[in-house]
Amino acid sequence: MNDSTRVGLHAPDLKRERVSVTRQMSASLPRLRAVARQKGLKIHHLGAGYPHPEVTDPRTFLAHKAAYFEHLRRREGLNDANALPEYLRESFAYTDTLGPREPRESFAAVYGHDWNLDIDPAHLIPTVGATGGISLSCALFERPGKPLAYITDAPTYAGFLARAQLNRHARVFSVEMDAEGPIIDRFRAQIRAARAAGYFVPFYYTIPDGHNPAGFSFSAARRQAVLDVATEEGILILEDAPYLYINYAPAPARPKPFVALAPERTIHLFTGSKIGLPGPRVGYIYSEAEVEIEGGKRAAITELLLTEASADILFQNPEALHGFDALLHDESMELRESLWPVAERKLEIYRENRQIVLDGLEQGLGDAPERFRWTHPEAGFFTVFTFLGDRVTTDDAFIERMVAEYGVVVIPMYDFYPADARARNPRAGLDQLRVSFCFSESSGDERRRDLREAVTAFCRAARAEAGC
Ligand SMILES: Cc1ncc(COP(=O)(O)O)c(C=O)c1O
Repeated sequence: MNDSTRVGLHAPDLKRERVSVTRQMSASLPRLRAVARQKGLKIHHLGAGYPHPEVTDPRTFLAHKAAYFEHLRRREGLNDANALPEYLRESFAYTDTLGPREPRESFAAVYGHDWNLDIDPAHLIPTVGATGGISLSCALFERPGKPLAYITDAPTYAGFLARAQLNRHARVFSVEMDAEGPIIDRFRAQIRAARAAGYFVPFYYTIPDGHNPAGFSFSAARRQAVLDVATEEGILILEDAPYLYINYAPAPARPKPFVALAPERTIHLFTGSKIGLPGPRVGYIYSEAEVEIEGGKRAAITELLLTEASADILFQNPEALHGFDALLHDESMELRESLWPVAERKLEIYRENRQIVLDGLEQGLGDAPERFRWTHPEAGFFTVFTFLGDRVTTDDAFIERMVAEYGVVVIPMYDFYPADARARNPRAGLDQLRVSFCFSESSGDERRRDLREAVTAFCRAARAEAGC
């Protein structure tokens, strides 16, 4: 008799839940690196999507946080040097699911100023980064157990696909994009197709600024058109905004995020990972949306998300939230007006890296516009590089060759296309690469030199592979 435990779980569907290409890549990297090194090749990083070490040195953050915590202690005016300050007690105690009040109030004021929103701190729900926000949003709509359809872009963020597909009653309906954003007719058609197939459609998940992995930002006009369709069709927009401040466009040219255009139709995901540090896992969900619940009543979606969060994570790490609050205060411990000056310190590096990569591509491949194309990202960490024509297929073998033959690490795009997009077009993404300019192992002049060498090596490889 089979004595294994029967708990009624499904075996993983290996086709759907295969290891993501980025994880596969990091697993095979040591072997490929060894091959490249044996040939005397330098390894060039254009693959990793991590924040740059030069802007994520925790020591600066820790010094500022310590000064802020000292400021909080002093502000409490405790005379007894041994007395436990309230902020410290709260930082390590059970707290409310909404987390400590003050960090939420600071965030509401600063973020509200930047995006012209009147944020009620009671509607801000702490999350474990944007990842936690994605998960919480999916969990909320999974609860009734109905078949769900998520509308998203083709390509889309791999972390969203991974979370959405954990639910066996969910299906992804993806929408192809052009240079401005999702194609509006396709967007409407996919919502309707999903409904016709019996699915409930809660939201459209997207990353309108510095799209990961598509490497561009949606135009203002397309955002409005998306919003119009979402309103007509009665669905929400789940706006993932990690690169909102990692923005290269001059201030007047930056299109507004969905949350600033229509907070009543948007579930907005803020994360501290890119503007601060990813390790502390700080994020907030904000929304002014109301939804219909059982009995025809209406409820603020944040109320429902809060119930979901209290049963799930119960409470965020309060010390991390107080730590993030330190970032919202300047050197004199005044609450900042805006997060842009914080972003600027990171932007100095990313702006420079982006320019090095775009200049390098132009220099190396700009004479062959009939063969190569790449995006000019207005925000974020990536440009998407396309081989025109059908001579080059950017499959796993190609990616391995890029490392082993040329020492260049890049990420293939095909895996970021949802299954339905690949069924419609079996070559979806198989002519594209995600080239990232956010990460290198070096800093300062060495970083600049390494990145220049990386893009030169990339151009040489692209030409060789394209046969020109
Ligand atoms: C589009 C997108 N969403 C979410 C995340 C994850 O963010 P977090 O660290 O806040 O969980 C990333 C990180 O790269 C991302 O690019």
